Amino acid sequence: MDIRIREAQPSDAGAIHDIYGYYTKNTYVTFTEKNPTVEEYKNSIIETKKAYPYIVAVDESDKVVGMAYAGQIRHHDAYRFSVESTIYVSKDAPKHSGIGTKLYVELEKRLSEIGYKFMYGVITDDNIPSIEFHKALGFTEVGHFENIGYKFGTWKGIVWYRKQIGSLTDMTLNI
Ligand SMILES: CC(C)(COP(=O)(O)OP(=O)(O)OC[C@H]1O[C@@H](n2cnc3c(N)ncnc32)[C@H](O)[C@@H]1OP(=O)(O)O)[C@@H](O)C(=O)NCCC(=O)NCCS
Repeated sequence: MDIRIREAQPSDAGAIHDIYGYYTKNTYVTFTEKNPTVEEYKNSIIETKKAYPYIVAVDESDKVVGMAYAGQIRHHDAYRFSVESTIYVSKDAPKHSGIGTKLYVELEKRLSEIGYKFMYGVITDDNIPSIEFHKALGFTEVGHFENIGYKFGTWKGIVWYRKQIGSLTDMTLNI
């Protein structure tokens, strides 16, 4: 599969809705239980891109096979240099074949160009592929919250992984 990374467009909302929808309904890798509507995805792509990168991985026919984006970690002002990053590769695309790496490397590059300093991945604590993925990309564990989420009748914990991606002395954000 020949994978290209490009900026997400509002017209990708349907594909992103389907990719994420599978994980909301069938897994604990996200704590979302109800998949947002395509219209809500459209709006979130537009809103996210005002301050953060939102990118997709596409195959030879421009079919979206994965997405990654960043967002505000907490709403208080002082958190503005840190972001929470999100990544999903389609259930139908091959895993552990490099698509996630292509997405995260590009996401990190774009975030660091804007001036963000830390990427945080928030991962369900038994999602071993994602934990290993974050470690492979240079993230380290900075927090563990056991039994913080309750989904489909089961308590689940999360681990936070963090990577520093910029100098802590140049405090410019090029948004
Ligand atoms: C987690 C996810 C984004 C990783 O993307 P990917 O394309 O499968 O990962 P890559 O092929 O780029 O892997 C890069 C490295 O991560 C690690 N890794 C990836 N998948 C792994 C697995 N199943 N087991 C162990 N290590 C794994 C390896 O170190 C790998 O390097 P290697 O190929 O040299 O062994 C992807 O599997 C996915 O979307 N999973 C379902 C949704 C999800 O869990 N999203 C994250 C929510 S926090």
